[in-house]
Amino acid sequence: MDNFRLLPWRSPPDGAAPDPYRVWLSEIMLQQTTVATVIPRFERFLARWPTVDSLAAAAIQDVMGEWAGLGYYARARNLVACARLVAQRGGFPATASDLRNLPGVGDYTAAAIAAIAFGEDAAPVDTNVVRVIARLDANSAPARADIERRFLAMAPPGRAGDLAQAMMDLGATICRPRAPKCTLCPVAIACAAFASGDPEAFPAKKAIAARPQRFGVAWWIERGDQLWLVRREAKGLLGGMAALPGSQWSADECESGRSIGRVRHLFTHFALDLSIEQRDRPHGEGWWHPLDRLDQAGLPTLYRRACALVLGRREKTGHDASTAA
Ligand code: ADE
Repeated sequence: MDNFRLLPWRSPPDGAAPDPYRVWLSEIMLQQTTVATVIPRFERFLARWPTVDSLAAAAIQDVMGEWAGLGYYARARNLVACARLVAQRGGFPATASDLRNLPGVGDYTAAAIAAIAFGEDAAPVDTNVVRVIARLDANSAPARADIERRFLAMAPPGRAGDLAQAMMDLGATICRPRAPKCTLCPVAIACAAFASGDPEAFPAKKAIAARPQRFGVAWWIERGDQLWLVRREAKGLLGGMAALPGSQWSADECESGRSIGRVRHLFTHFALDLSIEQRDRPHGEGWWHPLDRLDQAGLPTLYRRACALVLGRREKTGHDASTAA
């Protein structure tokens, strides 16, 4: 209670249950987006469509426009479909199993709405809840069913929503994935992971799923002591960032035999194998940047690494880039 975060979609733990529309909307927004980003967007959305009926009457393009920048746009489409169904039936269903049938509402979201807005003893298990419970029990690989059981055993009847949100707050602020602040934790005394001396070891990190592989070529174009740089298109990955010029990235490897170096870089959704090739002349828009001031070019990590590779090899061999492969 003392550490409760009053977020715009919440009621205080001992207050009236919050409006299901606000709970539903916040949970959809929070699915892929941080609390800090969601707060102002939630308030703007709610000012425009204060009730589920008003949202049900909205034009889809208007809702898509309001969602701009939040990403994962299927959420906005499902939001309107869901609002229309809910308006038609005269309100949100009150149980997790009925909520689960609504568009865009999965197991977690159904349990969260049921517990937070309707007081059902349901278990909204998100990554914070998993981490907090795994640490309490020093369980390195807890099964989801075990977490749900443990959560429900801890929740006072009718208060699963408060417990879930308390665990979310604890997980976001104290029981963080890395560098947990155990000295500030109100439940450290009951925490087996804290007692173990290595709380971060729980739950064990999962092996990162294999990412699809993409290939690209970056062109190293030098003139005197300068390197030709470009700005990436505003949209898409690394949008608007300074970069080495080069090809589009694709699933096909195009090996020219002219590579002077290769950088492998992990993005969230794919691994990139970037081959660096020397070219004589630039084309298109760009600028010459002094080689000894590349650190001030605003290059993202991928291109910083590519430059460091070429320049590092050159330093080692004393050769220029074209012979450094
Ligand atoms: N993440 C998802 N749902 C949340 C909530 N109700 N409070 C804080 N963070 C959340």
